[in-house]
Amino acid sequence: TEIASDKVTKADVVGRYLSAHLTPLEHAEAFAPSNIALCKYWGKRQDELNLPVNSSLSISLAHLGSRTVIRPSATGEDKVILNAKVLDLDAPFASKVIAFVDLFRRQQDLPVIVDTRNNIPTAAGLASSASGFAALTLALNQYFQLQLPDNVLSAFARMGSGSASRSIFSGFVEWQMGLHEDGMDSHAYPLDVVWPDFRVGLVKVSTSQKAVDSRSGMKRTVATASLYQSWPAQAAQDLEKLHQALAQGDFTLLGSTAEHNAMSMHATMIASWPPLLYWQPDSVAAMQKVWALREAGIEVYFTMDAGPNLKLLFQAKDQALLETEFAGLEVVAPFSGAAARV
Ligand code: DP6
Repeated sequence: TEIASDKVTKADVVGRYLSAHLTPLEHAEAFAPSNIALCKYWGKRQDELNLPVNSSLSISLAHLGSRTVIRPSATGEDKVILNAKVLDLDAPFASKVIAFVDLFRRQQDLPVIVDTRNNIPTAAGLASSASGFAALTLALNQYFQLQLPDNVLSAFARMGSGSASRSIFSGFVEWQMGLHEDGMDSHAYPLDVVWPDFRVGLVKVSTSQKAVDSRSGMKRTVATASLYQSWPAQAAQDLEKLHQALAQGDFTLLGSTAEHNAMSMHATMIASWPPLLYWQPDSVAAMQKVWALREAGIEVYFTMDAGPNLKLLFQAKDQALLETEFAGLEVVAPFSGAAARV
């Protein structure tokens, strides 16, 4: 295994795929879905490029995600718009977007307007960085007429936010960790599985801003939790099980593996110092409800990311019942036909 060095920069990597002169269009527009990991990405082996310690597997959320439009800016100044609001260029989201655009245009004087809209219900407390960076990468590919293949776009999106590598694709998606120093083999690819009855339900526990973001959370876990040492092997094993579940259409194996994986990740978070506990009392109450429903024979499982909200995994036949059990449940049918990209 090659050990990645921190010397390789995002600018070096992206620069290799660009010609000296970029010819921007007047308008570029792209959509990327949000995604939920069933086997989580938790821990980086290299910070600058967001190279992960383990491979991960997710389900994309069809029509829920980010739509990004890029246009030339006539004023000569960059402009970043999020959900119809013009942002200060030094706001966290705007500065990340501009730094990402800079990787592509480099020293060239090509001011842009980047207009992003998320249709992810804010009530569901879903992270928008995955769909946001994926949509931005797809839009930049169009805007500068780069015609890069999907695996390169996925690797580029990964440099914006790790989980964004998976949002380039729809359906079940695997992000292979890769081994190379420049990370170009660390990209996602879509799995050839269609599961029309598969459902994801978003349970809102809290919409308040999380205390510690994923980037700092995983850094703290890797640095301070000795439990983390067991994570890479567990993730590899869970990935195997998920592949088996997908190949056999085994929902029980899929759901139980995803829930166990999420709980194992949270165990490493809790074992960090200072401890990282993303759960709130209502998160635990929702978990207990899921377990009680399973006791009663309903096949429902959950997963959770670096926040207090649960994402339920179930099949179409149980949707009506779960909608009555969890008030305000937002249900996504990942294979309802919506294309992942425009
Ligand atoms: C718990 O992709 O948000 O949701 O690469 O630092 O931007 P950065 O982190 P991010 O981390 C996601 C962590 C997770 C698990 C997952 O989505 O796989």
